[in-house]
Amino acid sequence: PVVLSVAAEVFPLIKTGGLADVVGALPHALEKEGVRVQTLVPGYPAVMSALETSQVVHKFPDLMGGEADLLRARAKGLDLFVLDAPHLYDRPGNPYLQKPNVEWADNGVRFAALALVGAEIGTGLLDDYRPDVIQAHDWHAGLLPAYLHYSGKAAPPVVLSIHNLAFQGRFPAHLLGKLGKLGLPESAMGVDGVEYYGDIGFLKAGIRFADQITTVSPSYANEITTEAGGMGLGGLLKTRSRDLVGILNGIDIDVWNPATDPDLPAQYDATCLDRRAINKAELQRRFGLKQDPRKPLFGIVSRLTTQKGVDLLLSVLPQLFAEGAQLVVVGMGDPSFEEAFRRAEEQYPGCMGEFFGYSEELTHLTQGGADAILAPSRFEPCGLTQLCAMRYGALPVVSRTGGLSDTIIDANSAAMARSAATGVQFWPANEHNLEEAIRRTCALYRHPKIWRNIQLNAMAADSSWRFSAAIYADLFRNLAGMPAPSAE
Ligand code: ADP
Ligand code: GLC
Repeated sequence: PVVLSVAAEVFPLIKTGGLADVVGALPHALEKEGVRVQTLVPGYPAVMSALETSQVVHKFPDLMGGEADLLRARAKGLDLFVLDAPHLYDRPGNPYLQKPNVEWADNGVRFAALALVGAEIGTGLLDDYRPDVIQAHDWHAGLLPAYLHYSGKAAPPVVLSIHNLAFQGRFPAHLLGKLGKLGLPESAMGVDGVEYYGDIGFLKAGIRFADQITTVSPSYANEITTEAGGMGLGGLLKTRSRDLVGILNGIDIDVWNPATDPDLPAQYDATCLDRRAINKAELQRRFGLKQDPRKPLFGIVSRLTTQKGVDLLLSVLPQLFAEGAQLVVVGMGDPSFEEAFRRAEEQYPGCMGEFFGYSEELTHLTQGGADAILAPSRFEPCGLTQLCAMRYGALPVVSRTGGLSDTIIDANSAAMARSAATGVQFWPANEHNLEEAIRRTCALYRHPKIWRNIQLNAMAADSSWRFSAAIYADLFRNLAGMPAPSAE
């Protein structure tokens, strides 16, 4: 089948988090399954400047307040449609934020436009391209199935993929006037339409009108149909639970490969794990830590938000350092968390180091040099850093929620007895339990043989897209009414 994937981010062109990784990696993984994916993304400066070939395939004289071109393009091995709409997307930096913590005021219109163009491609805008299925990612593409519904035209089935229910795309009702001209009637403004607690809900609309809903881990699929995990949408999701499935994310094992990683001073695999010591020393040097190979070195690579439990980590720093451990922070997000880490660094010189900003290189170096990677999330739809950590032999220390509970096997005695442990888990996510997990990790670290055993288990785990791509491919084929491929 031919799949049109519609998203606000795609690695390696533009990325704020795991959404981009997934949108960028799935097309390659699905190609092996006989699924052809073309991805529609906004033409931000970072996208426009990366295009290797491009051709205008449609011109919109007025797309929500300005001229726009739809391009068919290739970049970095990806087949793309790019919505070149300068009045909406010609803004550098973060795709959603004007400055830290401040969204662009017209985000509703910006992403409605993306969804609308996706819907138009689905209903025959282009003579030579008609997808069999559309995959709409997160709230940014959430209006897409609503546009299709109200268009009344024949349209391909739509899969809504939820990467994070916390981001819902909720905008004031008066926006409908603007979007309405383009295909949402007055009547859409009801509980059975796009209305969401008196506002317009883009993700709500997606959940309401998509033919199928996926999310990024089986546990998260369960959590989001509950009152506690549903974040206001649990009831609606429950009514759709027959069409809701959790498919675990993978990682691109070529991008994340310690044996070939150009960002590591020492490449390694499971047969030469001692080489990690070279990376650890470099990590300690780069972050101004005391150069001591015996100190357990924790890393966190993360958006700095309360979802990620960054505040919990901040409050257990004294205990972490009391264990003799060190900490490296690579992240960006809430300025108040950055400030708190800066203060801690002054208070504990030589014990912790930090980089606030986006850096692929430091992310890879941290994975390849730290002994353990922290993910104390309050909720986590899937999480990718713990998958990278396993592949790099850095032990994940994670809360037992969402995808973190589906991917990590806690080093409890049953798992240790069977040589199955791949990390450390705790729950619920609170200071006390995080502190305990850090202490437990440090205790394991003091037993090099046990530690090595867990590292090898983790590195042997298959975190690639292999299994999940096959599940997506089946789903797409089913929706497109195509037969399963014969087993050869
Ligand atoms: P989320 O999507 O919720 O942020 P994930 O764990 O799914 O969490 O994905 C995060 C992705 O972003 C990973 O690929 C991680 O390596 C990357 N990442 C997080 N922070 C940074 C940063 N400061 N610089 C570069 N990459 C980062
Ligand atoms: C979201 C989630 C994260 C998930 C990623 C990719 O950003 O927060 O858990 O791994 O999307 O699906």
